[in-house]
Amino acid sequence: MESTTIFWLFSSILFFSLLLLSLLKPIFSIRRKLPLPPGTLGWPYIGETFQLYSQNPNVFFASKVKRFGSIFKTHILGCPCVMISSPEAVKLVLVTRAHLFKPTFPASKERMLGKQAIFFNQGDYHIKLRKLVLRAFMPESIRTIIPDIESIAVGMLKSWEGQLINTFQEMKTYTFNVALLSIFGKDEVLYREDLKRCYYILEKGYNSMPINLPGTLFHKSMKARKELAQILASVISIRRQMKHNHRDLLGSLMGDKEGLTDEQVADNIIGVIFAARDTTASVLTWIVKYLAENPSVLQAVTEEQVAIMREKCGGEKVLIWEDTKKMPITSRVIQETLRVASILSFTFREAVEDVEFEGYLIPKGWKVLPLFRNIHHSPDNFPDPEKFDPSRFEVAPKPNTFIPFGSGTHSCPGNELAKLEILILLHHLTTKYRWSMVGPQNGIQYGPFALPQNGLPIRLSLKA
Ligand code: HEM
Repeated sequence: MESTTIFWLFSSILFFSLLLLSLLKPIFSIRRKLPLPPGTLGWPYIGETFQLYSQNPNVFFASKVKRFGSIFKTHILGCPCVMISSPEAVKLVLVTRAHLFKPTFPASKERMLGKQAIFFNQGDYHIKLRKLVLRAFMPESIRTIIPDIESIAVGMLKSWEGQLINTFQEMKTYTFNVALLSIFGKDEVLYREDLKRCYYILEKGYNSMPINLPGTLFHKSMKARKELAQILASVISIRRQMKHNHRDLLGSLMGDKEGLTDEQVADNIIGVIFAARDTTASVLTWIVKYLAENPSVLQAVTEEQVAIMREKCGGEKVLIWEDTKKMPITSRVIQETLRVASILSFTFREAVEDVEFEGYLIPKGWKVLPLFRNIHHSPDNFPDPEKFDPSRFEVAPKPNTFIPFGSGTHSCPGNELAKLEILILLHHLTTKYRWSMVGPQNGIQYGPFALPQNGLPIRLSLKA
């Protein structure tokens, strides 16, 4: 080899080594300088998974916070994690330094819902999707479907008259139908039964072991997922031929100038159904329980809703957007339910690099869990936190202490729709019906959302 070649080879190796060292130096120095957050990691691999899942998870979180403070480390489901429960730290992870913490889900869940769904993504693709999704769920869009939401609510309530019903199961049907309405507009009834059949199989396997062999729940779910994609492909193709401008989610996703592929549209439709249904149904179930347990609150809500109904007797019979803005007491009941029930106790992020965080090291790849429930149940933020007291929302909560819909780049784009469909159902429920809870009422089940035991069986009857 010529001496000049050897010289260049050596110089290049030296140059790249120095470059690499200078890039790695801050990482090594953060690693050397900073301690990990306090806490325990439990057994090798298993970590503290059993401690978390063998009891009410909130007992686990509360005892850790008491022992180690608002930032602590643990090890769950094979992953080292840092859990955080101060409003300021949660804001850092979800908003201010969100670029350092990416959303993270098990690979099997991504496969099942669709990798290109909004909540699995970041960066430019996420920004583009968010604009399209927000456009479909902003007040100007959803106000147009109020009469259709109302007729779904009235029909559902009628079918419960005189029956013993499982509140959560019935609310799931309501929120599923409203989700389809917001996605497909009035066409939703055409696809409702087929989509429901496949989606219900898909959800049964969602929390199963991800073993894709014939006979397993996971396998059945993946088959249903394929069928869902086929149904959606044919809906998309029919829409393309119609060439109308639709204001629903499908219209928004298909109207993008740069164009989303059919697969991207399908992944996001399935993703939105998933994000919209059980969340809103759980909150509705808790509201039914809290109202039954707090007669004075129920009376105040009923009076507010009766007043709106009476106003309507003279003029327009159906609810309009402006009516829903005249429901402050009912809105506070929704807020207080979101706080007390905190159906999403926490969410998941993953550190994309070694991060210096409030004097601690969060190593690259570690999971970071903002604990919404702990923030909502801290007496520093909400005095007497276990008490259901909607009047506390007469005064706005302190910044970053009330985040049932998350915060920052991935916060919930469906929050207005969720509140709207809850208000509409409550309007008809409280003005026309009475209900009583059946069976034990103190248990809570987590699957994964916090829910009253057995889905809250109730008996519903028309008011005299
Ligand atoms: C009361 C009911 C609901 C609650 C409590 C709720 C809560 C949340 C929360 C906490 C997040 C953020 C998760 C995170 O940061 O990791 C979120 C995201 C999301 N929600 Fe909701 N949600 C509800 C209803 C809905 C509805 C009705 C829709 C659709 C119509 C919806 C669509 C979404 C979507 C698409 C995301 C992902 C946003 C993104 O990644 O940019 N949600 N929701």
